[in-house]
Amino acid sequence: MGESDLSGRRIVLGVSGGIAAYKAVELCRRLVDAGAFVSPVMTAGAKHFIGATTLSALASEPVRTELWNAAEPIPHTRLGQNCDLIVIAPATARVIAAYTSGLSTDLLTNTLLATRAPVIVCPAMHTEMWEHPAVVANIALLRSRGVVIVDPEHGRLAGGDRGAGRLASTDSILTAIRRVFKSQDLAGRSVVVSAGGTREPIDAVRVIANRSSGRQGHAIAEAAAARGATVHLVTTATIPASAGIEVIEVETAAEMQASLGRIAPTADVVIMAAAVADFTPVAPTQHKLKKSEGPPRIELVATPDILAGLGATKPKGQILVGFAAETDELEANAVAKLEAKGADLIVANDVSEPGVGFSHRTNAVTIFAHHREPQTVALAEKSAIAEAILDRVAELLTPSP
Ligand code: C5P
Repeated sequence: MGESDLSGRRIVLGVSGGIAAYKAVELCRRLVDAGAFVSPVMTAGAKHFIGATTLSALASEPVRTELWNAAEPIPHTRLGQNCDLIVIAPATARVIAAYTSGLSTDLLTNTLLATRAPVIVCPAMHTEMWEHPAVVANIALLRSRGVVIVDPEHGRLAGGDRGAGRLASTDSILTAIRRVFKSQDLAGRSVVVSAGGTREPIDAVRVIANRSSGRQGHAIAEAAAARGATVHLVTTATIPASAGIEVIEVETAAEMQASLGRIAPTADVVIMAAAVADFTPVAPTQHKLKKSEGPPRIELVATPDILAGLGATKPKGQILVGFAAETDELEANAVAKLEAKGADLIVANDVSEPGVGFSHRTNAVTIFAHHREPQTVALAEKSAIAEAILDRVAELLTPSP
């Protein structure tokens, strides 16, 4: 990646009190060179090792050290809310413990609690401390919360000791930073996903349904949220979704169409993973049909093609993705659907194959796009299929302003 590939990224560089604080100076310079806006936040401990002046000579933004600063009454909320990433290098056992338990005693730990941005923690400490069960448990907890830990290296430590605990190299930390930004490639984007099979009422208790479990759509919604998107999930499934995903529960094709009609026009990406019924009973009865009345004659009417409707009114720049569950003629059907539905991508799967599509935990798809060779994604967990679909979506999105 080029030297200015972090251009415009707003990074809070947390520096806590270990001898490796001097290496934060180099990290700060490299980040600024790569085009990032770097706001250093030093703990009291860090100031024992390096001077604020050193960092302020290299950072693009002011160095902050105090929570209580009259000129700026609540610096932590502004810093936390307005950054794209927080990197703590070096992170001492104290800062790690405070962050793990949600203790906000200084500007850095307050900022950590006041952010929704991704956080990278680069621990540095003596081997005994790094291997202490309390630190091990704290690191495990942070990892489970999605915090990126850049493991310390083995090598010379302060006081001439050797062992694990030396701050990772600046290059390793920069790689982790770049990886986070790459993995946040949908930040600032709004993604709408539909999922599950619609249920069309016959009477008060009976429905026409299909075998869709909603798993693939839910996996796409989860993956998009993890990649930084704001996600609306219009679903018929009752699979729990992560906090932060806006879930809209629907049952019928008409309800799905109404919800999507409201939210799709302003979305950057719309992914129609739902298996929408093609036909619905014309006149569902309010009461339960009696068995004694004999088999009912159910008159059906075609449902609106939601995807084709969205394709016809698609705002400029929006990426529209449809699905095609096929049992034969996969390629011909998928290519036809690209045109007929006005979609940018059609994700096709051969549901007659074992382990593929409806109600399985796995899927295998071919992604069709205009003017490109189809891309085959071999049998994998639906979460992996979701990532592959979003990779293609991210390629098609024009860069954000
Ligand atoms: O035409 P077919 O049903 O095979 O197309 C599948 C794609 O169209 C899926 O993305 C599905 O969500 C969407 N669809 C729709 N409205 C319908 C039927 C299908 O949006 N009534």
